[in-house]
Amino acid sequence: MTVPKVAILISGRGSNMQALVEQADGRYEICVVASNKPDAPGLRWAREQAIPTFALSPKGIGKPAYEASLDAALREAGADYIALAGYMRLLSDDFVAAWRDRIVNIHPSLLPRYKGLDTHARAIAAGDRVAGCSVHVVTEELDAGDVLAQAEVPIEPDDTPDTLAARVLAAEHRLYPAALKEFVTR
Ligand code: GAR
Repeated sequence: MTVPKVAILISGRGSNMQALVEQADGRYEICVVASNKPDAPGLRWAREQAIPTFALSPKGIGKPAYEASLDAALREAGADYIALAGYMRLLSDDFVAAWRDRIVNIHPSLLPRYKGLDTHARAIAAGDRVAGCSVHVVTEELDAGDVLAQAEVPIEPDDTPDTLAARVLAAEHRLYPAALKEFVTR
């Protein structure tokens, strides 16, 4: 049986990328790590693992040209699926349509609560007792595709957005590889 190939898109640190690589267990193969930030720290780690990388900034070339190059690089790498891992740019409707039902994302909230940014500060401000993370299918609408898996963590009374983010991140690192394994074999 051929192992499904997954392209990971990052914009920064790439700790979820690292978890996806380290917990693949042969159930999927990371064929390329791509970034819109050529200086993303996660790219360095991927190169150290001898994973092919692709880095291109959209600055100066515009979104259509940027996405056309990205799309070509992912297809060249043989990607069957795309996993967004802290990729902080919106993908265009055309890009999402070209990869329909083959892009997943991890989001640091219990969707449908707190789509978008500053999820931890918003959960604390709302007085929530529970936070978490969601793996979902990417559609044209931000953070609104089908939820594939979620994990909950408690919000402690003295939590700051940073302490809560660290707790949620640890849950992300367990959830995302497990959810991706199911997604690529469903
Ligand atoms: C993660 O917490 C991820 O859920 C979040 O960015 C962080 C990336 O960390 N993603 C989003 O907010 C997407 N809207 P990482 O680079 O260490 O994986």
